[in-house]
Amino acid sequence: GTVEGTSEGETGVRRRDFIEIAAVSAAGVGGLAVLYPLISQMAPSKDVLAESTTEIDLSAIETGQAIKAVFRKQPVFVRNLTEREIAEADAVPLSALRDPQTLEERTKEGRTNWLITMGVCTHLGCVPLGAAEGENRGEYGGYFCPCHGSHYDTAARIRKGPAPLNLEVPEYEFTSDTTVVLG
Ligand code: FES
Repeated sequence: GTVEGTSEGETGVRRRDFIEIAAVSAAGVGGLAVLYPLISQMAPSKDVLAESTTEIDLSAIETGQAIKAVFRKQPVFVRNLTEREIAEADAVPLSALRDPQTLEERTKEGRTNWLITMGVCTHLGCVPLGAAEGENRGEYGGYFCPCHGSHYDTAARIRKGPAPLNLEVPEYEFTSDTTVVLG
């Protein structure tokens, strides 16, 4: 992390590519096969599919990179924060936040570098863009919603624009140091 911290922002060279991965897991299929006869009588099939679990392999997401997974048919952002981004998030006083939460409260098990949020703007539901480094970094460095200009910071907390709340943190757990299961 510290190496990136010295160069980012100055050169704009470091990539913050947003790699889209439709990480729909097959892991939930077996369980669904068992549950389906029970659930199908209560709910339409799309809701059954919506219960699927998504497993995310973190090992391919380098520091400063992010992926977009799909969970319950909605985008989920998984970002591996740099030390600089963590420091920026920690430096913001809660009194400056519309929806006050610390980065630690928005992450799990003290792994504050793994920021996992829904990719759904809390204003009217557009998919925000990950802020790039360099010129396109934006004022707050996290996410920017192109629909009506909501800015989210490096902890995906709403900082500016019409959105009322931080990007939602979905239910998830670490099943190993490199694996997260949503739901
Ligand atoms: Fe994101 Fe309106 S939907 S700012």
